[in-house]
Amino acid sequence: MDHFLYRSGVLHAEDVSLADIAATVGTPFYCYSVATLTRHFRLFDEALAGTDHLVCYAMKANSNLAVLKLMGDLGAGIDVVSGGEYRKARAAGVPGDRIVFSGVGKTREEMRLALEGGIRQFNVESEPEMAALDEVARSMGRVAPIAVRVNPDVDAKTHEKIATGKSENKFGIPIARAKDVYARAAAMPGLQVMGIDVHIGSQLTQLEPFEQAYGKVAELTKVLRAEGHDIRRLDLGGGLGIPYERSNAAPPLPVEYGAMVKRVLGDLEVEIEIEPGRLIAGNAGVLVSRVIYVKEGEGRTFLILDAAMNDLVRPSMYGAYHDIVPLTEPAAGTGYAPHDVVGPVCETGDTFAKARDLPPLAEGDLVAFRSAGAYGAVMASEYNTRPLVPEVLVSGDHFAVIRQRPSFDEIINRDTIPEWL
Ligand code: LLP
Repeated sequence: MDHFLYRSGVLHAEDVSLADIAATVGTPFYCYSVATLTRHFRLFDEALAGTDHLVCYAMKANSNLAVLKLMGDLGAGIDVVSGGEYRKARAAGVPGDRIVFSGVGKTREEMRLALEGGIRQFNVESEPEMAALDEVARSMGRVAPIAVRVNPDVDAKTHEKIATGKSENKFGIPIARAKDVYARAAAMPGLQVMGIDVHIGSQLTQLEPFEQAYGKVAELTKVLRAEGHDIRRLDLGGGLGIPYERSNAAPPLPVEYGAMVKRVLGDLEVEIEIEPGRLIAGNAGVLVSRVIYVKEGEGRTFLILDAAMNDLVRPSMYGAYHDIVPLTEPAAGTGYAPHDVVGPVCETGDTFAKARDLPPLAEGDLVAFRSAGAYGAVMASEYNTRPLVPEVLVSGDHFAVIRQRPSFDEIINRDTIPEWL
């Protein structure tokens, strides 16, 4: 459930008309709902009630400072994957002991930054990384808390570009080698083993791959404890999918996910961490865009929008489906017709949808892409020198711009022409 509903025939974010926001900030823009973000965080938190747990929001999904502040205030931890994300989480007020650091390519500088500023744990993904972290921590007179990310070799049954738990993926260490790797870690004075980490992919629409992976982690926990390791924490990653296409079967709910986690891992007496990103932010955001032209092609109608692949890349990058709805609610009985929905960028790949059934739309009309709160603004670029679109946050009956649209001067002045040219 989200808080983007038609009221008096106009799509609203909570109590604010998206058309009013468009009139104030211009289009395109992203808009997020505080009530929806809050609700989604709480769904996970409540799903794990009765266990010692921390929901660490994966900020790569939506890293606006205001969103991070909201998550931090709700008590969330944050999963970061770069020094930039670490800095941003701290700038939003999230304490270091609620930040977990994931990623296959942490640099020594990033390790130093997090050790200096405070960190809950590093999710270490390889032996060379382990050696580097040990060295950095010792050089600072510190001990780095770690979990080792294991690759359980399970098929997440999702898009190949976002599956991470198969042996051919670059992530984690093969679970079969875990015993040796933990023995090495235990021998490094700069490291303190806290637990095990696993993340098998994103936009998972079934519980079974999670259950398979978590079953392997449960077994490994027992093996490692028998070897004398103090496994007190399991980081189960993120990945629970959201319903992008309303006609498809809905993915499992957080409460079902939580019940499965308790069933598979409940008797281990461990602290559980999870790292959801998409489920918290995805349906908490829309991208609003205006129709520039309606163009009649050969046997097809093109809806040319002022948003493009640089603003929301998921359709061109993954063939992803996003619901597109008019801001003005179509009257009952309105006829729908297929449209190819495209942006102004000079690439055929700049296509949001083909033959999408939409009500009649005209120049100047507004549309919203649903489920755009995760992996939307964060993956945007200024390709074709199109300014990054602004982000707006709504709570109840008020809204605020939480990222301004840059001016063209700002964009131009970011570059410099060398004096010798
Ligand atoms: N933890 C780790 C270690 C991850 O790599 C990810 C996502 C998450 C947590 C959060 O997963 P989520 O709950 O959001 O599924 N750009 C792609 C998605 C990439 C996901 C990368 N890792 C997309 O637009 O579909």
